[in-house]
Amino acid sequence: MSGALSRASAVAVLGAGTMGAGIARVAAGAGHRVLLFDTVADVIEGALSELRARLGRSVERGKIAATEADRIHASIAPVEDLADLAGAGLVVEAIVEDLGVKRDVFRRLEAIVAPDAILATNTSSLSVTAIAAGLDHPERVVGMHFFNPAPVMPLVEIVSGAATDRGVAATVYQTASAWGKSPVHCASTPGFIVNRVARPYYSEALRLLQEGVGDEATIDAVLSEAGGFRMGPFTLMDLVGLDVNLAVSTSVYEQTYHDARFAPNVLQQAKVDAGHLGRKSGRGWYRSDVPPPPPATVTPGVAVSVVRLGLDLGHAEGLVERFEAAGLAVERDDSVAGLEIGAALVIPTDGRSAAEVAPEHSDKEVLVLDLVPDWQSAERVAVTGSRNLPEDTLATVAATLGAAGLAVTRVADVPAVIVMRTIAQLVSVAADAAMAGVASPEDIDLAMRLGTNYPAGPFEWADQIGVDRIVAVVDRLRSFYGEERYRCAGWLRRAWLEGVPLRSLATETVAHGRGETRIEATRDND
Ligand code: NAI
Repeated sequence: MSGALSRASAVAVLGAGTMGAGIARVAAGAGHRVLLFDTVADVIEGALSELRARLGRSVERGKIAATEADRIHASIAPVEDLADLAGAGLVVEAIVEDLGVKRDVFRRLEAIVAPDAILATNTSSLSVTAIAAGLDHPERVVGMHFFNPAPVMPLVEIVSGAATDRGVAATVYQTASAWGKSPVHCASTPGFIVNRVARPYYSEALRLLQEGVGDEATIDAVLSEAGGFRMGPFTLMDLVGLDVNLAVSTSVYEQTYHDARFAPNVLQQAKVDAGHLGRKSGRGWYRSDVPPPPPATVTPGVAVSVVRLGLDLGHAEGLVERFEAAGLAVERDDSVAGLEIGAALVIPTDGRSAAEVAPEHSDKEVLVLDLVPDWQSAERVAVTGSRNLPEDTLATVAATLGAAGLAVTRVADVPAVIVMRTIAQLVSVAADAAMAGVASPEDIDLAMRLGTNYPAGPFEWADQIGVDRIVAVVDRLRSFYGEERYRCAGWLRRAWLEGVPLRSLATETVAHGRGETRIEATRDND
């Protein structure tokens, strides 16, 4: 089997809720006849009238022609009985997230649809392998994981279970492409790609809050204005729903046999217990009825007119351009170990706290500068400093960076500050996922950029920041906290030791499908 599903084939969508309705619209928009089934007839009716209204708005906004809107609406036929799905070439199941219910539905479907029909599930957390197990033909079951809202979000994770036929996965991949989506292949492992690799974005933020490094607004501002993330983690959790976010975290943690890297945080559980679920309940990390508090920002003093910079600024090199564009005189001097701004020596983070770095530079007031992945667009930087850092030294640094258009946030003196530790953990977890055969580095990068709107993919960050720096940061977090959550992924350490790009390790094996092979090999050995 190869190529996309023929447009002449009907697509059945099971479940007319949030996801099913969206998927039906996508398939109909691509030219398929869609059969929409739900156990609750009213839900289908509601979905179709909602679709009518949405299509109408798209026509008003000039996004689609009225005839096209009519065609899409007319292409979706409600069906009352599962048996009416007999003619479908592809079934996309988007019903309740319950393994028993999904298995039962697939078992019944097997007896209804043609032998070559593909059975896809939109599950976001269940094992595709488990859903398919026990069927006569588990090889035709595949995950087709859309993101919400399905008509808008481009990413679709094509999830292969242990028994999924590669041709089936390839057809569904091609079909998603033909529907205008950007598919990626992955193996059926906890959280697939996005829900697994994204965990540190939330868990590091929660840890920083727990440690009193900064409040929610400050951590959010640093990750968005310095890190380049579209939305800070606390704002994002409020949007997604703290309960939903906690459920995903807990599910990945449970399914990975309590891998410490995925451990949920008690702060979040407490919020959920309190009913503070985010925007939907009017209160989460923030309150909907009052504006969010401003992020902690250092009040600028008097800027210096000349900054002295070392020759090797590492990840802070991009700051030079910002200084020069702002008309600041920049002197490059090999004897300077970072950025000399007045009495301060600002050193780009290598994972150590200011207290760890300061003894090496006892003649200066040491500040550690957080990672800024894109200096051109950054509006803020985070720094940490020693406990007795004079206020006026900090104010001078803030004024000088302020002259280059950067607000300065000072946070408590923890290793790898905020952005560096978050990105290092994201890279480590992504490297581990690629190593485990979950997906290829390219697909992981694409999935994270499209599924979470990250400014770059983890493997792109590894290329950009350097594997040596990331390994150093993760190792220092590990030694500082003594916790397994900061263990370095095997591939990350290998790439560093062997001096090769992280992504190159994936070319030694065929990434897609390797996960399935490994799952099967493990089972054979049991
Ligand atoms: P929903 O609750 O909005 O819709 C589920 C629909 O399935 C309901 O209308 C319900 O009546 C119907 N249903 C339940 N059992 C059925 C059965 N046996 N046969 C036919 N219809 C049945 O749920 P939602 O959010 O659309 O989720 C559906 C699936 O998509 C779940 O597996 C979920 O994990 C997954 N998903 C959800 C996302 C989201 O953001 N909501 C994102 C990606 C995947």
